[in-house]
Amino acid sequence: MKKIEWNQKLSVDIPEIDELQKKMFALINALIDLLEGGAVEKECANMISEITEYSKYYFSIEEEYLKKNKYPEFANHSKMHRKFETFVMDLRRLVADDKSNLTEEIINNLTSLLIDHIKTFDLKYVPFLRTNSFIGKHSKTSKKN
Ligand SMILES: [Fe+2]
Repeated sequence: MKKIEWNQKLSVDIPEIDELQKKMFALINALIDLLEGGAVEKECANMISEITEYSKYYFSIEEEYLKKNKYPEFANHSKMHRKFETFVMDLRRLVADDKSNLTEEIINNLTSLLIDHIKTFDLKYVPFLRTNSFIGKHSKTSKKN
C-alpha cells in the first residue's frame, strides 16, 4: 500500500500548522506499516487512538488561529474537524472489535478525508489570514508612527 507524502502545495503558510499536518501524515503512514506488518488488533487500535488524539490537538491549534483572526467561516470549518474526529473514533471502535475492519480502502478513505479537508477548507483560509496579518502588522506600525 502506498504511503502518503506531504508536499508544499498543502502548506497553509503557517509553519506551526504545516508541522502538525506532516505529523498527521506520519501517523497515518505508521498505521499503514502496522496493517502491512500484520500487527494485532490492540496495536492498530492504539495507533488509531493516537491519530484521534493528535487530530484533536492539530485542529485545536488551527482553530485558535482562525478564531484569533475572526475567520468568517470558522463555524463550518470546525464542524468539518469534528466530522473527521468522529470518523477516526468510529474507525477505532471498528478495529478494536475486529482487525479485519482495517482495510486498505478504509485507510484510503481516512487519507482522502484529511487531504480533501486541507485542500478544500484549509487552503481557503490562507489568503484571508495572510491579508489579516498584513493589516495587523501595518496598523501596529502606523500606531508607532
Ligand atoms: Fe482545518
